Amino acid sequence: MDKFTIDGNRRLTGQVGISGSKNAALPIMAAVLASDGPLHLSGVPDLVDVHSLLSLLETLGVDSQYGDDGQLRLLVQTRQPHVAHYDLVRRMRASICVLGPLLARRGRARVSLPGGCNIGHRPIDLHLKGLAALGADIRVEQGYVIATAERLCGASIFLGGPCGSTVTGTCNLMSAATLAEGRTVIEAAACEPEVVDLGECLRKMGAHIDGLGTPRIEIEGVSQLGGATHRVIPDRIEAATLMIAAAITGGHVEIAPIRPDHLVAVREVLEQTGVRIETSTGCDSLASLVTTAPPVLAPTTLTALPYPGIPTDVQAQLMALLSRADGISVITDKVFPDRFLHAAELGRLGARIVREGPTAVIHGVPRLSGANVMASDLRASAALVLAGLAAEGTTTVRRIYHLDRGYERLDTKLNQLGGQVIRSEDKPVATPPHWATPASHLAIDG
Ligand code: EPZ
Repeated sequence: MDKFTIDGNRRLTGQVGISGSKNAALPIMAAVLASDGPLHLSGVPDLVDVHSLLSLLETLGVDSQYGDDGQLRLLVQTRQPHVAHYDLVRRMRASICVLGPLLARRGRARVSLPGGCNIGHRPIDLHLKGLAALGADIRVEQGYVIATAERLCGASIFLGGPCGSTVTGTCNLMSAATLAEGRTVIEAAACEPEVVDLGECLRKMGAHIDGLGTPRIEIEGVSQLGGATHRVIPDRIEAATLMIAAAITGGHVEIAPIRPDHLVAVREVLEQTGVRIETSTGCDSLASLVTTAPPVLAPTTLTALPYPGIPTDVQAQLMALLSRADGISVITDKVFPDRFLHAAELGRLGARIVREGPTAVIHGVPRLSGANVMASDLRASAALVLAGLAAEGTTTVRRIYHLDRGYERLDTKLNQLGGQVIRSEDKPVATPPHWATPASHLAIDG
């Protein structure tokens, strides 16, 4: 298990590349299960989560070839297997994305429930409700979802839940409905760019889908999906994390490629803190973006919401940033109201944060100071690394495996910008806090 040792208080400057989106790549990879042709993807990030899903797909009869340059070729070799085992599913919640395509193409699926999670309660009731509406017979037995359907039938499905829609739930339903008989309408569908990217790829495979990026997605089922070639969108969460790295270190950083339309809310909130952002457009709606930090960060109030709101996946990083602002900031998370484990760890670096339910009040401090901290989940790890970059002295971030699940070579990228982040093997910690130990029944976020 690795740790990062960060020599902080260094201004980040220069240019850095943005990888393909993890959260777009995963459901797209799973969609190969619905297809009869090869799927050629590019821009697939080299991440632990991607390799976890490849292992799972292999057990489901998918042959894969993954190149160093993010090229991935997937092809279904055998359609016999239909079981996604607990040992593979528990590594990553996004494994649930195999359920819809598996059921739609093979008529049956037995997928382990993903289990608990460090960022709060994460049920899959909406996924199951949607598939049941398409005519699947669904039972949960011995920790597995068992779903069967000779052929799914189009239906009208309302996918809104207590905290908005569901991103992977919309992906599961959309993939399944492409092969259903007749027309499916998903109301209260997730509008996230990652859902749109999956929809675009499914279209290239022959699916008939309208309304992508809106809360009403309409799908006219087809009898078969073919192969496709698709480039995964740039990772908007990695982009936002690197923009915040520039902002928190008083830096000046150019990132590319990005989709400016995917970063509107993040840009807005960063500008409220005094950060200057300039975009230059390139080809294919991709662009580069320059972030320049102000001498002093202004405080602000923000709420993490479903897209196009501020992403919950950037909430922790923004909390790190606002802990350095000159005044009091307020952050509310309406997507995952319990996603605040990073607040206490930021406190170890000198941040002053008080949590009250789904809200955290951050009293900005003029300086953070290096400390030993423990990562609890993917984005919390990123927040701790950002705070460590800005802190005076040395910060050690343990349990970096969380970070490796979702950021491609983050240490290398930060060092390229003038940071000093050293990766090394960690010695076992005597008594880790209970939440830092992924117990065998707990799935980790993703
Ligand atoms: C996706 O998770 C992302 N993961 C998460 O990113 C992200 O935080 C989340 O969407 C929200 O944007 C992937 O794309 C692989 P949801 P997902 O279903 O789909 C409730 C990261 O750091 N809900 O949209 O699992 C749920 O509890 C990860 O990269 C139900 O009530 O999230 C939450 O409050 C972490 N019933 C809200 O909906 C359901 O059946 C949104 O969750 C499903 C969800």
